[in-house]
Amino acid sequence: MSRLAGKAAIVTGGAQGIGEEIAARLVADGAKVAVVDLNAHKAKAVAERLTRGGGEAIGVGADVAQRAEVRAAIVATVAAFGRLDIFFNNAGFNKPLPFLEIDEANFNAIMRVNAWGVLLCTQEAARQMIAQGQGGKIVNTASIAGRQGYAEFAPYCASKASVISLTQAAAREFAKHKITVNAFAPGVVVTPLWDGLEQDMIDKGVISRKGEFIESFSSSILLGFPSKPKDIVGVAAFLASSDSDYVTGQVIMADGGMVLV
Ligand SMILES: NC(=O)c1ccc[n+]([C@@H]2O[C@H](COP(=O)([O-])OP(=O)(O)OC[C@H]3O[C@@H](n4cnc5c(N)ncnc54)[C@H](O)[C@@H]3O)[C@@H](O)[C@H]2O)c1
Repeated sequence: MSRLAGKAAIVTGGAQGIGEEIAARLVADGAKVAVVDLNAHKAKAVAERLTRGGGEAIGVGADVAQRAEVRAAIVATVAAFGRLDIFFNNAGFNKPLPFLEIDEANFNAIMRVNAWGVLLCTQEAARQMIAQGQGGKIVNTASIAGRQGYAEFAPYCASKASVISLTQAAAREFAKHKITVNAFAPGVVVTPLWDGLEQDMIDKGVISRKGEFIESFSSSILLGFPSKPKDIVGVAAFLASSDSDYVTGQVIMADGGMVLV
């Protein structure tokens, strides 16, 4: 399938997990993809793998919360592919703490990447798309945690609720430029992110063994199992394609029926 033929995309947080799968799917759909990540080495390795598979991809190191680095990543993408049509705000992280132990540093670190990073990257992506004059697609990775509060994830939940608000605000601002802004909200996706979360919760004595946290979260999934990135990437690809041209300001849950809103 080549429904994204001729399109150029950036996927932040594309070096592993959900972002890596999105990058691979966009390439399979015909797009040229810049894999942008804090981990430049891994971003380049993903891009090289996609290129070896017959696609066009580059890897770029950047912190999504640093404007100069984001601008440089967009410049590198336009230098390589001539344009920018699709921007995935996918980079994100979590550092869970029991609610009463959350401090300002923890809150600010999570909000800086997950919320401020999305705002900043949306601004820079939109500037490039407006200059091109042919519209564009901005797609944000929200979360069930943006729709539902979880005690150990409070700052993360606030950051993902912010992603939803920013999606709506940007959709209103950029509709006049034919730029759609949407989000998809994964539930439990088995990625390296969960390894870190489980270790943090073991260290804090909240759980006693690896797997316990993900199992307790997954118990309310209607479809009965936590997802892998490939289970949710179709929704992301839909929001990047012209099939979603009449959709903007929306959040599509891709959580197996975990949170019904
Ligand atoms: N895994 C889940 O269950 C789940 C569920 C809902 C939403 N999400 C969201 O999906 C997105 C991807 O999650 P994942 O599970 O693939 O995580 P992951 O930890 O496997 O991958 C995240 C990637 O983002 C990169 N990154 C982190 N901070 C960055 C920054 N400041 N600048 C640039 N890159 C940065 C990391 O280096 C990493 O490569 C995140 O926004 C996450 O919040 C994940």
